[in-house]
Amino acid sequence: MRGDRTSDAVRLFTQKNRAYVRFVRFVLYPQGIRAFFLGSPLLRSDLRVLDAGCGTGIVTLALRDALVRRRLPPASLQAFDLTPAMLERFRRSLRARGIEGVDVTQADVLDLDALPGSWSDYDLIVSASMLEYLPRDRLVSALRGLRARLNRDGAFVLLMTRRNWLTRPLIGRWWQANLYRAPEIEDALRRAGFSTVAFRSFPPAFRHLDLWGYIVEAGG
Ligand SMILES: C[S@@+](CC[C@H](N)C(=O)[O-])C[C@H]1O[C@@H](n2cnc3c(N)ncnc32)[C@H](O)[C@@H]1O
Repeated sequence: MRGDRTSDAVRLFTQKNRAYVRFVRFVLYPQGIRAFFLGSPLLRSDLRVLDAGCGTGIVTLALRDALVRRRLPPASLQAFDLTPAMLERFRRSLRARGIEGVDVTQADVLDLDALPGSWSDYDLIVSASMLEYLPRDRLVSALRGLRARLNRDGAFVLLMTRRNWLTRPLIGRWWQANLYRAPEIEDALRRAGFSTVAFRSFPPAFRHLDLWGYIVEAGG
């Protein structure tokens, strides 16, 4: 365990994982992410995909649904998270839906060397609502570690809570997350070595989620 914020995150998501799932369903977060990936030009067949900080699997499952709907079978889907209670929920969902072929493990984004060596060379890494839980001064090194797991042409899709009047009480205080503005995120990505950074929006039916957070695509 590294530092107080990390153990605080494990405590928070161990105690409140049910509330988290209810909250994100209420705001149609899973559907918004699936709709984003349904329209994303980054998807193609045979992708090697990693979900960093997968929690209960909302993003992995939304992405997988989009791949299935678009008939683009992945080469591999792998996911890690720090909190065992979140991972247990994820594994239960996989069993309940009869989904095989998704590898899930416990790991800390600040200690990626603990992942199996084969967990590298990704075409696509996604990370949603997780990096907010790191100490601010560890953000760049976490991004650098994730970038190192991408292959040459790999892409990183980051969903991150923005700082505004709505998220300060709702996500900052209630969900104890650090909040960022767009220039801070772009600066962190560039300092981590990404040379292309593009901010995207949720599809029209889910535009309300733009009020919550940023979707950023980074590469290079
Ligand atoms: C708000 S949840 C987001 C989960 C999922 N990505 C989603 O979008 O629903 C934040 C997750 O980040 C995980 N987390 C926090 N710090 C982490 C770290 N250092 N390494 C890996 N996961 C971490 C927590 O365990 C929690 O599951």
